[in-house]
Amino acid sequence: MKQLCYWRAWHAKSWSLTAALRTAAVLALLHALISTSFAGVEEGRVKSQVCAACHGVDGNSVSPSVPSIAAQPKQFIVTALYMYREGRRKSDVMQVFAEKLSNADLNDLAQYFSTQKLNPPAQDIDAQVMSKGLEITQKNNCVACHTASLVGQQHIPRLAGQHQPYLFEQLKLFKAAQRGDFDGTMTSAAQGLKSEELEMLAQYLSSLKP
Ligand code: HEC
Ligand code: HEC
Repeated sequence: MKQLCYWRAWHAKSWSLTAALRTAAVLALLHALISTSFAGVEEGRVKSQVCAACHGVDGNSVSPSVPSIAAQPKQFIVTALYMYREGRRKSDVMQVFAEKLSNADLNDLAQYFSTQKLNPPAQDIDAQVMSKGLEITQKNNCVACHTASLVGQQHIPRLAGQHQPYLFEQLKLFKAAQRGDFDGTMTSAAQGLKSEELEMLAQYLSSLKP
């Protein structure tokens, strides 16, 4: 029995060590990938013309199933494009476009879209959804990673003002552990959510004005 406990403790420790090492390795890789230069907005604007059909000229998509990428953190956009390019986040549509991009393209596109202004979708949300949504995001620590106003930071995306159907779909995928996820933290975070909370959560997040 005692031996079993030791084994469990060792196993848990080595697992978290592996996870930490994996996160550190990915972060180091992203650090090498992401240029900190502020140049690239103009290059990004030119390169973004191929993206405009779906994401809008300024990153505000009109289709509710396509995410708006205006005002997403730069590091998140680079990470997402990198994940699609490497096939670690599955999307038949996005992989086709990401495959053609160099690391310099990733940076220029991210520089352009991250500096565009978001026009959040207009909608009326009832007070009960607002208070319940707030409660869920605080209870589940969403605000700890995505920031208090849910505008995202570094490699963590903005949720505020994103299209509701897109958010709902992503939350269902994370909960089912089917959304390719850069370091596994978001898949873990979604496990505490109840299925019936997901739609309300998506409504709440999309109604927030960043
Ligand atoms: C034919 C339509 C289409 C085109 C063109 C397109 N995208 Fe996308 N994009 C999508 C869809 C649909 C998704 C959501 C995919 C998913 O479910 O992961 C997406 C997702 C993304 C995401 C992830 C956003 C998030 O919040 O997770 C980024 C970043 C992105 N696209 C950037 C680009 C860039 C940059 C280009 C141009 C090089 C581009 N896309 C071209 C349709 C498109
Ligand atoms: C430990 C940090 C952490 C916590 C806690 C967390 N998230 Fe995330 N979340 C992330 C990261 C990192 C990503 C980006 C994953 C990726 O694309 O690789 C993400 C992505 C997302 C996305 C996808 C958005 C998009 O544009 O593609 C949604 C939706 C989301 N989180 C909602 C939530 C909600 C709701 C909660 C609270 C229940 C939450 N998150 C808690 C770190 C976190």
